[in-house]
Amino acid sequence: MGRGTTLIEAALLQRVPLGCDINPLSAILCNPRLRPPHRDDIQRRLAEIDLTKDVETWDELLVFYHPETLRQISALRDYFLQKQSAGTLDDVDAWLRMVATNRLTGHSGGFFSVYSLPPNQAVSLVSQQRINAKRNQVPPLRDIKALIARKSRNLLSEMGEIDRMIYKKTAALGTCHTGSCSSVPAIAENSVALVVTSPPFLDIVQYDQDNWLRCWFNGIDSKAINIWQWRKPQDWQKAMADVFFELFRILKPNGIVAFEVGEIRKGNIKMEDLVIPVATAAGFHVECVMINAQVFTKTSNCWGIDNDIKGTNTNRIIVLRK
Ligand SMILES: C[S@@+](CC[C@H](N)C(=O)[O-])C[C@H]1O[C@@H](n2cnc3c(N)ncnc32)[C@H](O)[C@@H]1O
Repeated sequence: MGRGTTLIEAALLQRVPLGCDINPLSAILCNPRLRPPHRDDIQRRLAEIDLTKDVETWDELLVFYHPETLRQISALRDYFLQKQSAGTLDDVDAWLRMVATNRLTGHSGGFFSVYSLPPNQAVSLVSQQRINAKRNQVPPLRDIKALIARKSRNLLSEMGEIDRMIYKKTAALGTCHTGSCSSVPAIAENSVALVVTSPPFLDIVQYDQDNWLRCWFNGIDSKAINIWQWRKPQDWQKAMADVFFELFRILKPNGIVAFEVGEIRKGNIKMEDLVIPVATAAGFHVECVMINAQVFTKTSNCWGIDNDIKGTNTNRIIVLRK
């Protein structure tokens, strides 16, 4: 699932979205977007939450936040964790938690932090100290309720009543599973028409490190999650072999898998060469490999990737049929 784009797009196409990710953060980000609350309910709930409560704060996070902002963030974190453990966290709270999680760090005044990297790749405390020194910046005061309200309005601005009806019919039937995709017993065999997935690439992205701050906010111990991170192509391939057996089980006959992987190690490893043998061993027929030339984005610029030398320059979608 990652941050859930695939499930949201599925819902908009009136498909019932089912997803899986080993990191519980994924369901926290994805579920609320399948069940968006009404704007008035969001405003009302925000007004009710008491951010003046005295709770434990983590002073080391002052490299990102003004002391008063950090106090508000800690009070909000405590509110969500209390409601979660009491089993009273409803769809409105879940929405607010998703928006707050995505506002923790960023590069503009719309985020809770001083200038930093985008929220899906929080930097370490030491790196943030360096960014602050280089830019000669101190974290400014932010009104976190106002920022959550503004972002919620923005996210829901194009959501009309027809979209809500579509969502009720499809998205609300969807489920976000937390666990390894090599075994998802909650999804019945021969039940799925289409799988769209972008598995962890070899050693390109550090999913646990990139998400450490978002995991902290949600009380998740990211070190305790067995996020797949392979160094050797053969180990990656072995894990994907298990995944293909599971995908074969859940797919309907003639069901399709779109399996998206990048080209890595300066193009020396073509991931489809690793995928096709294990996919066919699980019983799949290869329909085609789509190759997209990579368009460099703001995020790739943040990584210093603006040429054909580093990182992923093409991505490939291996289309398979059961
Ligand atoms: C390339 S990302 C997916 C990105 C997603 N398509 C998106 O648009 O946000 C790979 C995801 O695989 C997850 N992951 C790692 N090991 C896993 C496992 N064993 N089972 C399921 N998900 C896993 C990571 O937590 C990460 O979110």
